[in-house]
Amino acid sequence: MKKCSWLVYFLLLSCAISFSLGDVKCKKSSSLAYKCSTSAGMLSPLKLKDIVSPAATELDLSKNKLSLSDGSFSTFKRLQTLNLSYGSLSGVTKNFFKGLASLTTLDLSNNNIATLPLDVFDHLDKLSEVRLQNNKWDCDCEKGLMTLLKTRLSISHGPVPALCYKPVTFKKTRINQDCDINECMEENDCDDMATCKDFPFNYTCTCNTKGFEGTGKECTDIDECAGKNDCSTDGGLCINTHGSYICSCKRGYKGNGKTCEDIDECKSHDCDQGECTNSKGSFTCECHEGYTVNDKQVCVDKDECESNNHTCDAIQHSYCSNVEKFLPSDDGYYCLCETGYRKVGKSCVLEGNMKELIKILAMIIGGFFGILFLIIISTVIFRKWRNRTPKAEKKEENQTVIAPVVGMAPPVDFAYLGMPQPEQEGQEEAEEEWESLKKRTRTKTRTRRTWNESPLAHDIQATYPVHKMTHLVNKTEQHA
Ligand SMILES: *[C@@H]1O[C@H](CO)[C@@H](O)[C@H](O)[C@H]1NC(C)=O
Ligand SMILES: *[C@@H]1O[C@H](CO)[C@@H](O)[C@H](O)[C@H]1NC(C)=O
Ligand SMILES: *[C@@H]1O[C@H](CO)[C@@H](O)[C@H](O)[C@H]1NC(C)=O
Repeated sequence: MKKCSWLVYFLLLSCAISFSLGDVKCKKSSSLAYKCSTSAGMLSPLKLKDIVSPAATELDLSKNKLSLSDGSFSTFKRLQTLNLSYGSLSGVTKNFFKGLASLTTLDLSNNNIATLPLDVFDHLDKLSEVRLQNNKWDCDCEKGLMTLLKTRLSISHGPVPALCYKPVTFKKTRINQDCDINECMEENDCDDMATCKDFPFNYTCTCNTKGFEGTGKECTDIDECAGKNDCSTDGGLCINTHGSYICSCKRGYKGNGKTCEDIDECKSHDCDQGECTNSKGSFTCECHEGYTVNDKQVCVDKDECESNNHTCDAIQHSYCSNVEKFLPSDDGYYCLCETGYRKVGKSCVLEGNMKELIKILAMIIGGFFGILFLIIISTVIFRKWRNRTPKAEKKEENQTVIAPVVGMAPPVDFAYLGMPQPEQEGQEEAEEEWESLKKRTRTKTRTRRTWNESPLAHDIQATYPVHKMTHLVNKTEQHA
């Protein structure tokens, strides 16, 4: 009876063990890699804890019907690969993978999953590959898989984008196109000066290589003028632009900016009243005295009045009036008198006083000229009186010369010529009459003038030919 009870006990116990263990069979491919399956139809991870070492690194539960719940794998803290493919999972809960701190690869492909909680992979910090192909995804871009993948981009660059192209039960076959937003076409973080490149669920910004530098979200213009550039260092000018730079030539130089050449401005510029001197990039006008250079680089008359460089202040009631300077001796200005004043010498005198002054001046000048006039007149008269006789003789000589030309018989004065005089009718009587006449008038007619003007003299002149009379007068003079 005791033996039998022991046997029954053993059988019952072995039966219980075989029941509990018989359903799940695990094969080890290496010391820490398990591939388990069950014949019980449904595999519960609770049973695995007894079979599989907590130190296992790989667990393949594929091709099993799985009844999984929160924290099913929480004991396998060293698990790196978990294969749940070809199961019948219709969904997983938020804490489904809790505790799998070492997990890198998760295979969920070929199940019936429609959605995943957005935070389902949180805390799986080492997870790098998730296989999600062939599920029954609800491909809602906002709520579904794509949103999840977008929020967990660190795990998306494995096979994830690829799975979206070949979903078995997906209603939308081109998920990538439908769900992925081309951020480059939308509002994005790229700088205006960056190039945007779209990737599935992601995009990149790169600063335009030429002329800009930065992160892509922020690009700053490179100031080429501050660094190396090929603008001329002799007269060249570097102008930084947004993304580039321009070379130009400074004022006074010509060229393309990379080579600049000084312009000889004096060839085309006229300083007018000055001398032009060319210099590098410029020129100067040396103005003649009294001229100053204006803002157009032309020598113009210096306004001595404006610059207060005049002496008019020293003259009372005068003001300065600028004029152009022609001669070096010119002042370049005039001191004019204020209205009501007149210039006298170098001073300005009140008009009223002026009249008096003019009167005095007029009297002085008038007197001076009056006296001068009298002196001249008397001198002239005196001279005329003294020269009267020789003048008359001269006149007669002329007549003597002219007469033959006119064709008249010349009234020859034989006595004058020193030739014997031919007897002429009445000559003797006339001379005698003349002598007596002279004697009679001698006392009264001492001067030529009184003689000439006496009515008697006229009578005689009328009676005697002029030449003869002159001759007679000369004779009487000699006698006198
Ligand atoms: C998971 O198991 C399936 C079927 O056994 C296999 O095809 C797949 O490659 C496995 N996944 C990984 C990540 O090893
Ligand atoms: C886009 O993906 C790259 C790697 O492919 C990553 O470095 C970058 O941070 C991602 N950008 C954004 C905006 O998520
Ligand atoms: C004033 O004029 C004189 C002679 O023209 C010149 O030498 C001098 O420099 C001038 N002074 C000023 C202040 O312009």
